[in-house]
Amino acid sequence: MTAVQSVTLSNSVEMPLEGFGVFQVPDLAECQQATEWALEAGYRLIDTAAVYGNEEAVGAALKAVGLPRDEIFVTTKLWVQDMGQESGKRAFATSLAKLGLDHLDLYLIHQPFNDYYGAWRALEELYDQGAVRAIGVSNFYPDRLVDLALNSRITPMVNQVECHPFHQQTQAMATMAELGVHTQAWGPFAEGQNGIFTNPVLTDIGAAHGKSAAQVALRWNTQRGVSVLPKSVHRERIEANLDVWDFELNDQEMTSIAGLDGQLRIADHHAVEMVRRINGIRIHD
Ligand SMILES: NC(=O)c1ccc[n+]([C@@H]2O[C@H](COP(=O)([O-])OP(=O)(O)OC[C@H]3O[C@@H](n4cnc5c(N)ncnc54)[C@H](OP(=O)(O)O)[C@@H]3O)[C@@H](O)[C@H]2O)c1
Repeated sequence: MTAVQSVTLSNSVEMPLEGFGVFQVPDLAECQQATEWALEAGYRLIDTAAVYGNEEAVGAALKAVGLPRDEIFVTTKLWVQDMGQESGKRAFATSLAKLGLDHLDLYLIHQPFNDYYGAWRALEELYDQGAVRAIGVSNFYPDRLVDLALNSRITPMVNQVECHPFHQQTQAMATMAELGVHTQAWGPFAEGQNGIFTNPVLTDIGAAHGKSAAQVALRWNTQRGVSVLPKSVHRERIEANLDVWDFELNDQEMTSIAGLDGQLRIADHHAVEMVRRINGIRIHD
């Protein structure tokens, strides 16, 4: 299989352009198994979060597969309940212990809610201490991102946002590019919604390359310089989702996929109900 390309973040850290996501895999044995399959298949970036409740399982998989520490890139995220400078540092220590690591590769503020400015100060401190190699945010729309950048010593290196053929983030990406913030896609398959795996535009393009609609969706994002985090708990899909580095979409194919934008948005962080619901999710006493 052709090697996964990487991106150089604004602080010169190299990050794989494709990683493995473990959202909605709360069963620890299942999460460990899927993560082991991913590492065996060749994924070198694993994306988890405190709120996913499976950091221990990711840690167990990393230990079981036993790759050298400098060959893997581990991301986790600070949950809303723990925003704030002191609580953020405590939550980081808890996550690191659950993962069984002595440093993290990327730590993200999961949502732009609660005291995320205090939390960002905590991340800046952790970064200065070398406890984490890169720091960033998630679900920050351009207005929040610009404000954070204007009021912080360190600009986030990454912003992980919903990004798939039906919600392409083109305008937001222009702001991120201006700030030197790398765009990372969550939900690169739109979480399987809107018929993505049988979408005629994606399947027709895939047929021309001997690839599936899923593989075309991943390739399209990485060709725009966006890193992707596909999730699956099925071994054959985990392997197929990594097999996207030996073909290239031409300009016409990229333009056809651009035409799918605007069909579906999974999350709206400006919606009052969303703010209430997310703030209500507690992960400890
Ligand atoms: N920062 C955030 O707020 C945020 C939010 C959401 C997600 N994320 C991150 O992004 C990662 C990916 O997003 P996601 O998990 O929400 O959704 P996703 O990767 O877009 O889609 C996952 C869905 O697609 C299915 N699937 C995967 N590969 C397939 C294939 N080749 N053919 C057919 N079906 C396939 C999976 O089913 P099976 O598992 O049954 O194969 C699952 O139902 C997450 O795991 C997480 O790490 C972050």
